[in-house]
Amino acid sequence: MEKIVSFCKRRGFVFSSSEIYGGIQGFYDFGPLGVEMKNNIKRLWWKKVVQERDDVVGLDSSIIQNSNVWKASGHVDRFFDLLTECKSCHKRFRADHLVEELKNSGKLDEVGLYDEEEIKDIAKVIEKIKCPECGGKLTPPRQFNLMLKTFVGPVENESTKSYLRPETAQGIFINFKNVLETQRKKIPFGIAQIGKAFRNEITPKNFLFRTREFEQMELEFFVKPGEDEKWFDYWVKERMKWYVEVLGIKKENLRVRVHEKEELAHYAKACVDIEYKFPFGWGEIEGIANRTDFDLKQHQKFSGENLEYYDENEKKSYIPYVIEPSCGVNRIFLALICDTFEEIKGGRTRTTKPTKEVEILLRVDKKVAPVKVGVLPLVKNKPELVEKAREVYQMLKPYFNCIYDEAGSIGRRYRRLDEIGCPFAITVDFETIEKGDVTIRDRDTMEQERVKVEKLIGVLKEKLEK
Ligand code: GAP
Repeated sequence: MEKIVSFCKRRGFVFSSSEIYGGIQGFYDFGPLGVEMKNNIKRLWWKKVVQERDDVVGLDSSIIQNSNVWKASGHVDRFFDLLTECKSCHKRFRADHLVEELKNSGKLDEVGLYDEEEIKDIAKVIEKIKCPECGGKLTPPRQFNLMLKTFVGPVENESTKSYLRPETAQGIFINFKNVLETQRKKIPFGIAQIGKAFRNEITPKNFLFRTREFEQMELEFFVKPGEDEKWFDYWVKERMKWYVEVLGIKKENLRVRVHEKEELAHYAKACVDIEYKFPFGWGEIEGIANRTDFDLKQHQKFSGENLEYYDENEKKSYIPYVIEPSCGVNRIFLALICDTFEEIKGGRTRTTKPTKEVEILLRVDKKVAPVKVGVLPLVKNKPELVEKAREVYQMLKPYFNCIYDEAGSIGRRYRRLDEIGCPFAITVDFETIEKGDVTIRDRDTMEQERVKVEKLIGVLKEKLEK
């Protein structure tokens, strides 16, 4: 992970937030390459989940909502983690994480615990274990609400207290009626949204994996009660396909994990996680939940609005069930970097002699790659080459996200492009001036082919869409 974190910083993918002030834990900024790649991930999700379908529409709801939303949804009363603190060093931990770590370490018997049933009582386990930092005694676990709070307007009191949304989903439920009335959609149909979510995580960790501010891509798919299980299975399959076929994530690094009953969120009847094999272990990148009619029923109760759907075929009204595929953009981003980051000892570029250096290659799918084309003059001290290369760059820029690079040897420049996952490099050389063609170098095979400048846009478009 350390290598990945430093690579992301060095190449301008991800920076720690507020770095010049010493940072702020659990927050990250996406740099020039990071924002491009993140936008590509979001675009590919939106295209698949919204634009290519007839039965899903989009939404962009506000981050701060009436605080009754969070009372109705159960987040005020039930959205908490168990916090324990060391009485000596005052470090804070998530109690369930400590129990999990103990279980995975195989040292349960050392603290006098012998069976799985005993571990379920978290308070009992915490009583028996010591602070992992200093060996001090831990406080009994207490509930810690994860919602970040703020005040709306100039007065700070209980009535102006508001929350930054901990999930985008509720913005969808509270607009269910608006969408239904304006879009003439019939069940089954879904509403999708991409947006920021905030959670005051007790222990943000593993780089982008657990942060306090992150982006979610969520779909709430409304179905007839009784058809929920069928649609649940459908969405699990669809979403797995997206990771493999669209993002190109290696199948062997993905798995589906079914939630145990005790693990289920307060709103869910069933849930599976799509997990990725990160360097620190398997971790959830997406949860697919059967939220039943819980949320709409709660909002109907708290708001007094009728949120039923009138089914013309059945000639009756009901509150639909909801299937929710919900994923985190930042976790997918991290999974993609981990999946495609390669270190090649001794180098692989043809133009330089093999060296002791380690070359980095980011074999990320073309659709996800932050920069699609690099334009390079063979050498920078020949004005005619530089001029022609700049001309080619200007020609390509409206069509592809391109960069122009003339600094350093050509081998070094290819390596720089390989490092950021740029799938194609265009080199302008002396033959370009004579014959009007350039070379296209393929990042993965390093093969080069010559193409006429006037055909370049078409050829690149075809290659990028392949
Ligand atoms: N609406 C359902 C919901 O929010 P969740 O499993 O709590 O369910 C969904 O979150 C997804 O959001 C997760 O699969 C993960 O990708 C992302 N996510 C949740 N908490 C996160 C955090 N602290 N940092 C980064 N991503 C997070």
